[in-house]
Amino acid sequence: MHLSDPQIRKALTEAGVELEPGVNLSGLTSLGIGGSTDLLRIRKHDAIPAILDLLDQHKVPHRFLGGGSNLLVGDDNLPWVVLQLAKPDPDVVLEGSRAHVDAAADLGRTVTFCAKHDLGGLEGLIGVPGTVGGALRMNAGAYGTQIGSYVEEVKVYRAARRKIEILRGDQISFEYRHTSFAPDDMMLAVTLNLPSKPYREIIQGIRICNEKRRASQPMGQKSAGCIFKNPPGASAGRMIDELGLKGLSVGEARVSDRHANFFVNAGRASARDMLELIAEVRDRVEKAYGVELENEVVVWTA
Ligand code: EPU
Repeated sequence: MHLSDPQIRKALTEAGVELEPGVNLSGLTSLGIGGSTDLLRIRKHDAIPAILDLLDQHKVPHRFLGGGSNLLVGDDNLPWVVLQLAKPDPDVVLEGSRAHVDAAADLGRTVTFCAKHDLGGLEGLIGVPGTVGGALRMNAGAYGTQIGSYVEEVKVYRAARRKIEILRGDQISFEYRHTSFAPDDMMLAVTLNLPSKPYREIIQGIRICNEKRRASQPMGQKSAGCIFKNPPGASAGRMIDELGLKGLSVGEARVSDRHANFFVNAGRASARDMLELIAEVRDRVEKAYGVELENEVVVWTA
């Protein structure tokens, strides 16, 4: 979608938006898939309510983009603009055992920054790509750690109430790859309360998780992590693997040879290819196991 009306463009710029027209979202997603639209980069949290009022007044559909690492975006011209928070400097501020982290901060860098200051707990999340805001929204987890366990407070723009609110951790429910945030809530910042641990010990934990990940997941390939959530008590990856579906392809969308719940873009896969592959695998798993796999990847199609 292209914002051609000069009045909206001017008003958005005055509200503090950096407008980048015609951005190809394939460059902003870890899958390397996605069509183009205008990108609105926001530098100040306080400007968000006014910016969203403006978009609503002009009936401009919009979506919030985090780090783009768990996201499958449609092809061609996209029918909405995309809002993204710019990363402030610094993006993590420590205060005793608390880490105040901007939602735009990179998750992996946040884990290592905290580790250097003897704050642990997040070791399992090393290697999970994306921003802290994205991890928070879906309660990202790995190797027995999930980010929700450490949340003390979240600063969030609540679209339904059109205002920024601070929620305590106990006002949010964090479940397996799911939270009680509304789909149009925009994560702005989080305060994590982390256990003190010596750096050496944390680094040891980080190394172990890195090794496990390297041994079982495709690294350096374009993917969105696991495509499906694990059904209760089972592993989607194992089921897909048992059906012999590693390597199954639609165009250049392909089930990873390394971990069957990772679908990779092996070249110039389109969203259409990837969606067809997802549907095919879901169908085969349902026929064989009677289990309907639920997407973990967030799909943004028209
Ligand atoms: N397995 C296979 N074949 C495969 C993949 C897995 O047989 O192709 C088997 C493994 O050998 C193992 C079992 O399935 O016995 C479970 O595999 P793994 O330990 O890789 O865990 P997972 O359930 O497939 C989950 C998360 C990952 C997370 C890892 C480590 C989900 C959907 N996936 O994978 O998270 O990194 O555990 O904690 O919850 C993600 O969410 O995007 C993600 C990658």
